[in-house]
Amino acid sequence: MEAVVIPGDWNVDQILDDLDQHGFSVIDGAYSIEYQHAVSQECLSHLNEFRDAAIQNGVVSNIRSDHILWLQPEFQISHQHTKTLQQFSQVLNRAFYLGIKDVEAHFACYNAGEFYALHRDNPQGKNGRMISSVYYLHEEWQDDWGGELHLQDKNGQWHAISPKPNRLAFFQSDLLHEVLVAKHQRLSITAWLRSDTSLI
Ligand code: OGA
Ligand code: MN
Repeated sequence: MEAVVIPGDWNVDQILDDLDQHGFSVIDGAYSIEYQHAVSQECLSHLNEFRDAAIQNGVVSNIRSDHILWLQPEFQISHQHTKTLQQFSQVLNRAFYLGIKDVEAHFACYNAGEFYALHRDNPQGKNGRMISSVYYLHEEWQDDWGGELHLQDKNGQWHAISPKPNRLAFFQSDLLHEVLVAKHQRLSITAWLRSDTSLI
């Protein structure tokens, strides 16, 4: 089997510099179009297994209305992305001493009208999430379809990152962010690079 490697066209120096200066980085055209189509198909073929992300242990919250499905080892195509993130974690560990040991990931689906209100993935260092990543895998996204990742960078400036197909965003898990209401179905893999061993 072909070894999974960090794509050769990722500008690693730029990504590290962006993370260092701003606490986030965006990679356009993260993978081949063939890969993006394949992962999109894999996601869509499991849509009926997604669950309401707002319900955790039977408790309903109103902070988010998307649907998620944790990646499973048999999801071979999306698993390649997780492997790439594991490899990239080594680069991040060398650059920033983050001590990342593990990657946890789920598919997320926002149907029209769905959102995720302001939050931090790791408030006050309460969990092992160091870096958050979101890979957008729907086939099309137009500028007026909403669904932006609205993120406050480490210097306090706000950015609206459009969920363009085949775009991968990395950001520090302690940063404040939200997903604005999407007007069309918005598909992604959200993954966290963790300094502990994930509990899933
Ligand atoms: C999350 C999240 C951002 C996005 O799942 O915690 O903030 O752009 N996702 O989907
Ligand atoms: Mn988040």
